Amino acid sequence: ARLMAKLPDPFKLVDKELQPFADSISELVSSDQPVLSMAAKHFFEKRQGKRFRPTIVQLVAKAVAAADVEEVLSPADQPPPPAWHMAGASPIPADLLAEDGARGVVTPGNHRDSDPWRRQAQLGQVVEMIHVASLIHDDVLDEAETRRGGDAVHKLYSNKVAVLAGDYLLARASVLLARLENTAVVQIMATALESLVSGEIMQLKAPPESLVEVSSYLRKSYYKTASLIAYAARSTALLGGHSYGSEVATACEEFGFHLGLAYQVQDDILDFTGAADVLGKPALADMDLGLSTAPILYAAEEFPQLKPLIMRRFKKQGDKQTALELLFNSERGMARAKELARFHADKAVEALLRLPPSEARDALTRLVSVVILRKK
Ligand code: FPP
Ligand code: MG
Ligand code: MG
Repeated sequence: ARLMAKLPDPFKLVDKELQPFADSISELVSSDQPVLSMAAKHFFEKRQGKRFRPTIVQLVAKAVAAADVEEVLSPADQPPPPAWHMAGASPIPADLLAEDGARGVVTPGNHRDSDPWRRQAQLGQVVEMIHVASLIHDDVLDEAETRRGGDAVHKLYSNKVAVLAGDYLLARASVLLARLENTAVVQIMATALESLVSGEIMQLKAPPESLVEVSSYLRKSYYKTASLIAYAARSTALLGGHSYGSEVATACEEFGFHLGLAYQVQDDILDFTGAADVLGKPALADMDLGLSTAPILYAAEEFPQLKPLIMRRFKKQGDKQTALELLFNSERGMARAKELARFHADKAVEALLRLPPSEARDALTRLVSVVILRKK
């Protein structure tokens, strides 16, 4: 930890770059429907959270700028937007379009976000919008009443508004994504969305046998958490001019993959060890949802009597209490979960070391340790 403190603080290093983000995001998510605007802005104005993902995108952008570029993507190689995108040629009445120039629809007048740096910053916004959309929906699915130290969006409004606000944020993120005018990045990020949904449905509909498997748990964790970070990191490299199959882009994706897994395993550990007021969201929530994560799965290797409880999703009276006691009494359950987080953290650092040395790379290394040492 002392060695880490000598590395640059990842959040401070990109503080300036993230400021315009904070300034423009509420403009980007404004709607002519007041409730939608308020619900969509909730996690951008008052409760911004740790802003992990945009921080990662900014730092990866800096780190890949230090690497040699094999192939530069020029905006001229990109296909032109379809004619109906152009103001005037649109079938949509002009008065309805009037405001849209400022809000992000591509028109000839605002078609100017061509330099890599701006595009990468915009990708960071897209990623945070996708993340926030998924959290708003997640709290509906999980029936969680708090998020980031305040009420969940569905508690402030209603389930219906929360579903629509999440959809709306996704729609806005899609417009911004398209504005990057990089079809590879659009495909990658659309795949990330697909992964999020796969992860959630896998968690919801997993067959009982798979609930006891660490491999299924890891796959689900990849889908619901690591994929977005991995794809965002690869996309950042692409926007920096690196080609899809380049060593730099692959190292970035592997970094995101392992960091994401370390992040989720730590999240699952904190569900048992953290306090709700520190976490800003409910603690001990996973078992209530019938979910078994790393600590319980490893404890079950020591105490096989846990397995039937896991497979029936702790549905019988007393199951949760019994499982907690067994976890508490297990020698290695929690320790092995911590080792798993550490393993992926180490792999994330190994991937980073394939990038050329830079201040940003050092900050990312420190970020990896922040992820597994965090308490919230
Ligand atoms: C949090 O997990 C949830 C996610 C990381 C992904 C949620 C994804 C969806 C709801 C699919 C819909 C996707 C989009 C893009 C709208 P958690 O419940 O384990 O964590 P928590 O403790 O923070 O609630
Ligand atoms: Mg949840
Ligand atoms: Mg969930």
